[in-house]
Amino acid sequence: MNSFKEDILSGLRKEQKTLPSRYFYDKKGDALFQQIMHMESYYLPGCEREIIEKQSADIAKILKEHNPHWNIVELGAGDGTKTAVFLKKLDESEVSMRYTALDISPNILKENKANVTAAIPQLEVESVAGNYFETCDEVLKKQSHNLILFLGSTIGNYNKERANEFLQWLYKGMKKNDLILIAFDLKKHPKTILNAYNDKEGITKAFNLNLLTRINRELNAGFDVNAFDHYPYYDPLSGNCLSFLVSLKKQSVTIGNENISFYKNEVIHTEISKKYHLDDIGQLSRENSFEPVKHFIDSKRYYSLSLLRRNG
Ligand code: AVI
Repeated sequence: MNSFKEDILSGLRKEQKTLPSRYFYDKKGDALFQQIMHMESYYLPGCEREIIEKQSADIAKILKEHNPHWNIVELGAGDGTKTAVFLKKLDESEVSMRYTALDISPNILKENKANVTAAIPQLEVESVAGNYFETCDEVLKKQSHNLILFLGSTIGNYNKERANEFLQWLYKGMKKNDLILIAFDLKKHPKTILNAYNDKEGITKAFNLNLLTRINRELNAGFDVNAFDHYPYYDPLSGNCLSFLVSLKKQSVTIGNENISFYKNEVIHTEISKKYHLDDIGQLSRENSFEPVKHFIDSKRYYSLSLLRRNG
C-alpha cells in the first residue's frame, strides 16, 4: 500500500486535486467525527440505531430460516457500541452465534470486546487486528454461514469503481451460504443531505480542514489552514455528496521539497458520501453477483440495512 506521503502528493499533483478521505481519521479527526455523529443534522447514526433497535428481530428471523448458527464477522468494527445492541437483539431472538471483530486498531478492539461481552457475557468473541482487506479471507475460510456486517454507511465513501471492487473482493472471499448486512444512506430531500455535511457549528468544516493540519504535522508541510474553506455539494441526480476544500487565495504550499500551487478558488476534492436509491442498491448488487434478500429501512426511509446474498 502507498505511504501517506505518496498518497497525499500524488493527489495534489493531479490536474483536479484530490486528497483521500481515509486520512481524515487521526486522533483529532476521530474526535471530530464523534462530534459529527452527535449532531442533530447528521441523521445517519440515529437511523441506523432505529433499524437495529426495531428490526433486528426480523433480521434474526431470516437468519434462523437459513441456518441455526451464524458467525457474525464485522468489518471495521470500531468500539462495538451499536454492534453490542444488534448482537443482544439477535441473542434475544435465539440466534446461536459467535462474533469476530475486524479492525485496524488493537486498542479499539479491546473496547469492542469489553462492550460486546458486557451486553452478552456468554458470547464467544474473537478480535482480529489489522487491515481487514488482509485478514478477512482467513476468518471467512475458517467457518461456514458467515454474516458479514459493514455498517455506518462506509460504502458511501467509495465511488462506483471502488464499491464494485469492494463487493467483488467480498464475493471471492465469501462462501455460498454467507450473507452481508450492509448500510446504505438513501437518497432523500437534497437539503436534508446537504445540511448533514454543512453544519452551522462548523464541525464538518473543522473535520475537513483537519486533513491539512495533519499533512502539516506529518509531512512538515506549510498549509495556511485559514486560507482554505469547506465546501460540500450534493448532486441529487448521481446521489454524490462531495466535499471540497477551497483555496481562498492564490498560494503555493511546500510539502517536503515539493511546491504545490493553488489558484484563487481552486478546489481539492476530499470526500464522496454517496447516497443510494433502493434500485441503485439492487443494481450495484446484481452487477457484482449479489441479490438483495431484504432492505431494512428506518421509519423516515432515510437509511437501509440491506441484507445481500451471493448469486450462485
Ligand atoms: C464515515 N462516513 C460514512 C461519513 C459520511 O457520512 O460520509 C464521514 C463524514 N464525512 C463528513 N461527515 C461525516
